[in-house]
Amino acid sequence: INAENKPVNKDIKWQQLDVTTVQREVLLGHKSAVLWFTGLSGSGKSTIANALEQALAAQGKHTYLLDGDNVRHGLCADLGFSPADRSENLRRVGAVAGLMADAGLLVLSAFISPYRQQRELVKSFIADGKFIEIHIATPLAVCEQRDVKGLYKKARAGEISQFTGISDPYEAPTTADLVIDTSITSLQDSVKQLLQLLTLKEIIN
Ligand code: PPS
Repeated sequence: INAENKPVNKDIKWQQLDVTTVQREVLLGHKSAVLWFTGLSGSGKSTIANALEQALAAQGKHTYLLDGDNVRHGLCADLGFSPADRSENLRRVGAVAGLMADAGLLVLSAFISPYRQQRELVKSFIADGKFIEIHIATPLAVCEQRDVKGLYKKARAGEISQFTGISDPYEAPTTADLVIDTSITSLQDSVKQLLQLLTLKEIIN
């Protein structure tokens, strides 16, 4: 695994291309960014990202939502949940998110992304100022009580190993741009806060 996102072959050089991100942003009519949602399984990452994408699409913004479960059906279908596999999962999706932002899109990504170091690595793939970290900080007890997919029950029974929050760590962000706890914040308010943040950062107007 090439954790640094640098070519292993030293004969591979960077090819300078002429059409810039800014040109693509102008064509699309808004800035690009990566909204990186992190949080426990069942915390509400996908639900909020999905609702935000709908709101942005309704405003005519060009978006793409990268979702953990979905990406693991294709690009990352070969990966499990060991620390090395999670790191590789995030290296791949971080690189894809960076490319999509370069293409001019507003990228929303919903991955547990439990380790701080991995999120730092993802941030390093994204152009300066375009990485926005959103911590969906719903308490573990609430996520476990919801247990939408029945995975917490399986993890407690020992049927799933290395389950985040139960048998694998979740390292909460310390410098998130926004923290949302869905046990006290409605979906509508969450979307409102996110739209305000994007406006404040002058990504949308
Ligand atoms: S990671 O840690 O960022 O690579 O995880 P991610 O790609 O977001 O995948 C998380 C979804 O996979 C399901 N699942 C597990 N989660 C955590 N730990 C273990 N061991 C595990 N096994 C399967 C789970 O449905 C997660 O979905 P969400 O949407 O987060 O609930």
